[in-house]
Amino acid sequence: MSFHFFHVINGHLNVEDIPLAVLVERFGTPLYVYSRAALTHAYQAYARACAGRNARIHYAVKANSNLAVLNVFARLGAGFDIVSGGELARVHAAGGRADQIVFSGVGKQKDEMRAALRANMCCFNVESIPELHRLNEIAAETGMCARIALRVNPDIDARTHPYIATGLKTDKFGIAFDNARAAAHTAAALSHLNLVGLACHIGSQITTTAPYLEALDKMLALIDTIEAAGVALSHLDIGGGLGIHYHAEGDADAEPLPEIGAFVSTLLDYVEQRGHAQRTLLFEPGRSLVGNAGVLLTRIEYLKQNGEKRFAIVDAAMNDLARPAMYRAYHEITPVVQRDGLTPVLYDVVGPVCESSDWLGRNRPLAVQPGDLLAVHGAGAYSFAMSSNYNTRPRAAEVMVDGTQAYLIRERETVKQLFAGEACLPIKN
Ligand code: LLP
Repeated sequence: MSFHFFHVINGHLNVEDIPLAVLVERFGTPLYVYSRAALTHAYQAYARACAGRNARIHYAVKANSNLAVLNVFARLGAGFDIVSGGELARVHAAGGRADQIVFSGVGKQKDEMRAALRANMCCFNVESIPELHRLNEIAAETGMCARIALRVNPDIDARTHPYIATGLKTDKFGIAFDNARAAAHTAAALSHLNLVGLACHIGSQITTTAPYLEALDKMLALIDTIEAAGVALSHLDIGGGLGIHYHAEGDADAEPLPEIGAFVSTLLDYVEQRGHAQRTLLFEPGRSLVGNAGVLLTRIEYLKQNGEKRFAIVDAAMNDLARPAMYRAYHEITPVVQRDGLTPVLYDVVGPVCESSDWLGRNRPLAVQPGDLLAVHGAGAYSFAMSSNYNTRPRAAEVMVDGTQAYLIRERETVKQLFAGEACLPIKN
């Protein structure tokens, strides 16, 4: 059972060249650990498939926005896809190039627009007519012209979890497909906007290429109609969304997935076949770049049994990893150090938070004792990034491993930090 850069040697789970148990001794639990080699490997799969083609990669910062992760991608030459002023600041701080940033999101605020204009970013992906007008006003105010793409909702069923499908017409995202032509004309007529492309994003954890081809089909036809009316469009942003394995390789339940390289080439070939070779295709991958590059390490505090049900109560919780509680998402869970001579029994792996949805895995066969360490796999994407302080729980530390070296890339929060900005009322009696 393995996830590429996380592998078992003599019963010990290692990341690259370091046993994870050693990292726990140094940094404690709960602990997020990322492999630089895994990040690089995933990025290079995209980059190789894009080499010599008319394509660019914009890492979706929301998946994992730690500065060290962003810095690894910036050094590899990635562009970025952001959704807030905060993410813009992170990309800056991590050394990412502003002219390689696209700014997505349905609710861009005026200050965020100003900051993005000042940064001279690559492109705003505009999601509504009111946003077009707001951006035009802000650009006029700052004496600039904003490069924009229209994010269109192509009404495609991405066949994924409903909470992470984004490209159906009942979703809040993008401009309705049937209104896109009119929106393009509105945009082209606004003095401080420069319409340069179209964008779409159909969802996340998508495990086949087919919904992308459907989206491309519709989007390329739309580009043809808009260009026929005299508006030139230089790029198409196809969004992110390629899924990852949450079950270990070799498991019967492992998700059937296209290889990253094959996925990218299929899309680029399709764009060429449709006579759009001159058009730049932008990819905004998040999960497929970082998801399998990370684990969450946690220690078993107690084992307990309520009737027939056995629980392994661990020191990580839904505030550290919300995906199981939010989407009933499956994450593989394995011991960090395997025990011999103990028969596995089925446990629900649960945290200390006061919610019944606070579980990390259900009915998992584990041969464990109190005090043992568990690794929750597939925890590089939407994991730390979605963590919270619910139950006044300080967020976990994050570590990045590079060969034989481990670097603390985010300190564990302290309880004091959590209420540092709070104050009691000045009540006299
Ligand atoms: N571009 C846009 C405009 C997006 O909204 C997203 C993700 C991406 C790119 C990156 O998609 P990816 O390659 O990572 O699938 N919290 C959920 C996932 C939400 C995805 C939101 N949008 C989860 O934990 O599964």
